Amino acid sequence: MNTDQVRFGFLGAGQISHYSAAEINRHPNARVVAAQDVNAARTEELCSAYKIPKACATADELLADPAIDAVYIAVPNKYHVPLTIQTLQSGKHVILEKPFALNYAEAQQAADVARKMGKVLTLGMNQRFERAPQTIKTLVEQGELGEIYHIKAYWMRRSGIPKQGTWFGNKALAGAGSLYDIGVHYLDLALYLLGDFHPVSVSGATYTKFGHLGLGFGGWGKSDNEGLAFDVDDFATGLIRFASGVSVSLDVSWACHAEEHDRADVQLYGTKGGALARAGRFYHPNDKTGEYVIVQGPVAPLHFPHGSRFHNFINHLLGKEELCVTLDQALGVQRILDALNASAITGREVRFDLAK
Ligand SMILES: NC(=O)c1ccc[n+]([C@@H]2O[C@H](COP(=O)([O-])OP(=O)(O)OC[C@H]3O[C@@H](n4cnc5c(N)ncnc54)[C@H](O)[C@@H]3O)[C@@H](O)[C@H]2O)c1
Repeated sequence: MNTDQVRFGFLGAGQISHYSAAEINRHPNARVVAAQDVNAARTEELCSAYKIPKACATADELLADPAIDAVYIAVPNKYHVPLTIQTLQSGKHVILEKPFALNYAEAQQAADVARKMGKVLTLGMNQRFERAPQTIKTLVEQGELGEIYHIKAYWMRRSGIPKQGTWFGNKALAGAGSLYDIGVHYLDLALYLLGDFHPVSVSGATYTKFGHLGLGFGGWGKSDNEGLAFDVDDFATGLIRFASGVSVSLDVSWACHAEEHDRADVQLYGTKGGALARAGRFYHPNDKTGEYVIVQGPVAPLHFPHGSRFHNFINHLLGKEELCVTLDQALGVQRILDALNASAITGREVRFDLAK
């Protein structure tokens, strides 16, 4: 790899790839140089919008290009692991979209290949890099909240299922619905703030109440309505317990009856104070007067002031920055997602501490 320039190839030229190309090209030492999508018109659209010089017809063609150092993979979830493994085996680093995989076993396969090939594999968990959660992360590390004993993570949309009839709502292509699409974001953020990705037990419940009736859809996604069946969750809930005694609750909805259209945050409960990570609010009693103080946008040093998942990955490849989303963490999140789904099916808690 060139030591001062990271050249990217894109597999997938759907909706999120447009934001991602712009973000990568903003880095002074990175450039998107090639793209491929199974839909050639979308490849062309992305290439012309972001001045990407090479439109490839196949993944094989893109991966055979020695000028490409790293690949961003943003395709339906079913293809995440197969394309990740193929990319790693071609000798390139990978930043993969969430969720990691359809299941934990598959994620482990990709992690094994990354280790064997000596290549970087990370998940693009963009919510971690926002300024507000980064600030709260620093306050947690500084002990400002005291001992954290509970975290409440939630992303509740009233009517926000991605486009109807697309892969997003189809179990064979997506693996799960709201849980994998948006639940994964705040589960990951909660565990990042806690600094623990390995719980002792998980209990979950999932529901399908609107999507299969053609209700609750939004407009996200460039994929066309192919009339695919909606057979995934549009609401999920879970409780995750850690050996330390900390609990994390997760509530997620693509569609539900709710007062607000969209409500999302990660709320931390500590012995000295509390915080809303997404809103960037820290609240605690004043030491001397006991009067309650609410600090909007507290000032604290940030681990990643650039605020970008891609810039972290690029800087890491250039040897300038620690990688934020480690494989161990990504595997930990996928293991919890599997357990939430398994618990929802059996109606029983999944215990990791009793596993052989
Ligand atoms: N990080 C985030 O906040 C965020 C937001 C949205 C989507 N995503 C993730 O990004 C990925 C893509 O989502 P999207 O919103 O762009 O979806 P989209 O439906 O807009 O685009 C998906 C694209 O993948 C293409 N595709 C399908 N199979 C392919 C293959 N085998 N090889 C190459 N291209 C293929 C489709 O033609 C389509 O253009 C998903 O994994 C999704 O979970 C992440």
